[in-house]
Amino acid sequence: MQDEQNRVSRRTAGGTQTLAVLITAVFVLLTVPGCAFDREQHGPSDETTIIFKHGKIAGDPATFRRLLDRFESENPGLRVRDETLPASTDEQHQYYVINLEGGSTDFDVLSMDVIWVPEFARAGWLGDLSDLLGPGEENAFFPGPMRAVTMSGRNYAIPWYIDAGVLYYRKDLLEKYGFSIPLTWEDLVATAQEITRREPNLYGFIWQGKQYEGLVCNALEYIWSNGGDVLEEGRPVLNTARNAEAVRFMRELIVKYRITPPLVTTAIEEPTRHLFGSGRALFMRNWPYAWSIFEKEGSAVRGKTGVAPLPSFPGYRTASTLGGWQLGVNRFTKHPEAAKKLVRFLASPASQKALALSVGYKPTRKALYKDPDLLRQQPFMTSLYGVFLQARPRPVTPYYMMISQILQPEFSAALAGIKTPEDALASAQNQVRHLLGERP
Ligand code: GLC
Repeated sequence: MQDEQNRVSRRTAGGTQTLAVLITAVFVLLTVPGCAFDREQHGPSDETTIIFKHGKIAGDPATFRRLLDRFESENPGLRVRDETLPASTDEQHQYYVINLEGGSTDFDVLSMDVIWVPEFARAGWLGDLSDLLGPGEENAFFPGPMRAVTMSGRNYAIPWYIDAGVLYYRKDLLEKYGFSIPLTWEDLVATAQEITRREPNLYGFIWQGKQYEGLVCNALEYIWSNGGDVLEEGRPVLNTARNAEAVRFMRELIVKYRITPPLVTTAIEEPTRHLFGSGRALFMRNWPYAWSIFEKEGSAVRGKTGVAPLPSFPGYRTASTLGGWQLGVNRFTKHPEAAKKLVRFLASPASQKALALSVGYKPTRKALYKDPDLLRQQPFMTSLYGVFLQARPRPVTPYYMMISQILQPEFSAALAGIKTPEDALASAQNQVRHLLGERP
């Protein structure tokens, strides 16, 4: 018994010693300048490293790195490490929710989809950036993204680049067969049917139909351009004849008019961009980033691509979903001032211009749409100005992602023919009504 007690106390003493050695080792590791951990969090000597998380930047990552290098040289003592997340907005959202919920300090600055800011701000995950904008400076930005980053008069992010759904078309083929840019969906179908009949290896019209956020963006453009909507004064208005007609048309593009290949039901932005970019499609719905890639040397569609507003149903106006990315500061960051400096730098006119010229991300600052260098390189920017100004936001509410989680499988089921558009919309209506607390 005595022996047993001695063994226990020896083990405990040994354990305490081991613990003491471990604590000392960790302490040494944390304080010795230049050790691996120290370099990551604070840099050698008095350097601070800011970690910037963002989705994959289109095109060559070196061009973006050059911008960050410029920030570092203008701000001695600050380093930026940028870390890329998966391309899909839904996966990025998941990453942030898990990490910010846990108060993570793994990143200081984050790039946010326009639809997340109200949710993240309400959860208390974002630093207040109102003092980053000078008096009246919010008027320099497009109104849609500015509204999405403002809550109760405070700014929780700064718009970085803007997106809106647009129609890409093959200029050369429309000219060859004597067609003009379609203004209605009906025109688009007729044009695509005729040209693909004569060019059998060409897809008529491709877009993003996988069950994900991009499908909601696509579906809303048909719904809005047919006079429909999702919410009206905060109440769901999903199960209407206009919406059903719009969703039915999406399926008919595949099964009735046969100008859209079934592969779109699993496609996100990049696969459709690749297909169009290799010359395999006449029309494509996508965000504006693709154009700069198409115009690169060696591209199969260089000089042959046009960009126009999306068509509409007869009697209604073209509608484009507002997208885009905003820069925010993690409220749990240990380096709030340095993080804000990076946000200010990246959202500045000079950085937005550099990013527009190098990777084709469209500025959120309106004045850049008159910039001679940009207009020379991307002449269609002038016509996009109107599209961005009028682009329609998805419902701006902290509950948006929950609404989208309801809409995604319903739209997808209608597209696959598993449900009629009416059934899918009725089910979505009930679920959204429930979510928003309105009883049937
Ligand atoms: C683009 C848009 C974003 C949208 C996403 C959908 O990244 O900028 O707002 O949610 O596409 O895939």
